Amino acid sequence: MIVPPVPTPATKPVGPNLHGIMGARIGAQDGYVYSSALARADGVWTEELLDSWLEKPRDRFPGHKMAFGGLPNPDDRAAVIAYIEAAGR
Ligand code: HEM
Repeated sequence: MIVPPVPTPATKPVGPNLHGIMGARIGAQDGYVYSSALARADGVWTEELLDSWLEKPRDRFPGHKMAFGGLPNPDDRAAVIAYIEAAGR
């Protein structure tokens, strides 16, 4: 599984840096060029939103450019979310 860099990109990143993403505004990191789908999204990243984004990225924020099929297994999503929260503190 490929996970974008948390917290420091060592090479060219495949997506926005996810450090501190929990509670951050959606599609709003300085210096990252988002699709308009994410750039115009309202709200902040919560565990629930991240869970639904990772379950089926295609269905969330249609038109986004994240090339990732998703994680159908809820345990996998919970593990990734726990990792992102821990690494982002
Ligand atoms: C478990 C794995 C992944 C997680 C947890 C994850 C999480 C996220 C999150 C939370 C965002 C939104 C960031 C923001 O609002 O600032 C995002 C965007 C993005 N991710 Fe992922 N991602 C994953 C896998 C991938 C993979 C495999 C790729 C590419 C091969 C990728 C490429 C991108 C791109 C390009 C965006 C920006 C999308 C846009 O502007 O439409 N991600 N990702």
